[in-house]
Amino acid sequence: MNIVILSRNTNLYSTNRLVEEGEKRGHLIEVIDPLKCDIIIEKEKPTIYYKDRYLDYVDAIIPRIGTSVTFFGCAVVRQFEMMGVFTSVTSDAIIRSRDKLRSFQRLSKAGIGMPKTVFTNYSRDVEKVLSHVGGAPVIIKLLEGTQGLGVVLAETKNAAESVLEAFNGLQARALVQEYISEAKGADLRALVVDGQVVGAMKRQGKEGEFRSNLHRGGSAQIVKLSHEELKVAMNAARALKLPICGVDMLQSERGPLLLEVNSTPGLEGIEGATGKNIAKAIITFIERNRK
Ligand SMILES: Nc1ncnc2c1ncn2[C@@H]1O[C@H](COP(=O)(O)OP(=O)(O)OP(=O)(O)O)[C@@H](O)[C@H]1O
Ligand SMILES: [Mg+2]
Repeated sequence: MNIVILSRNTNLYSTNRLVEEGEKRGHLIEVIDPLKCDIIIEKEKPTIYYKDRYLDYVDAIIPRIGTSVTFFGCAVVRQFEMMGVFTSVTSDAIIRSRDKLRSFQRLSKAGIGMPKTVFTNYSRDVEKVLSHVGGAPVIIKLLEGTQGLGVVLAETKNAAESVLEAFNGLQARALVQEYISEAKGADLRALVVDGQVVGAMKRQGKEGEFRSNLHRGGSAQIVKLSHEELKVAMNAARALKLPICGVDMLQSERGPLLLEVNSTPGLEGIEGATGKNIAKAIITFIERNRK
């Protein structure tokens, strides 16, 4: 098969692993920067021009679209879809998953447990907002945050007020969330491929840190998920129509609570922690599903 990985960076661990496993299985793998593609729209003849050629020979694509290039990246993915090329994740599903609020709305409808969350446009009545999630301490999160940046633990009502004021002043949209203290600075990441959990790790924040992000100094260990945790991960993937994704959960007294679903999960942390060959699982998923 001719498989294209849509990625801006050929030096990333995840990209390299996909190339390596794809080639091992006899495929021709190309890494293409979606921002260097021209989308050509014409009646019944959608095409993509890249460097000096038309990408009309591609059998399948693996989008690895960064959040900063969602708009154009997804336009390229959609163009491949119009050309009948199999994609490991659809452009619609990527776009949906990038909007945290929209994803939460869908996931709650699908019956998936999550920390109680309020989104308000008008956060002057902080007392009321906090009362919706059971009062301080609360977590305040920038809607556009990532890697733990923009996630604040406000221990008191006054602290929450100051943070919300600051975010408001910067015109940054934030959500207020119940603080799950019993998670003790840890979270779970389940890697889903083809709708099934193929690996899972527990990430623990460094001493005194409530955020477990590896980028914030957290560490990861392989973990065996409970039946309920497996179910949440698979249901979340199905609700967001993401056959491949990373599902993050907190362990709480009332069971697993969903934090986030990532449509471009990194492979380094999870392969390192679990010793599993996730890249190969992704390639074989494509082999099975390409029409
Ligand atoms: N409601 C909460 N209660 C307790 N801990 C939380 C809560 N929300 C987040 N955390 C901790 O903070 C970390 C970062 O939060 P989150 O994953 O929501 O944001 P992010 O990592 O910055 O964004 P993204 O995951 O979208 O890249 C989580 O991994 C978790 O350890
Ligand atoms: Mg996170």
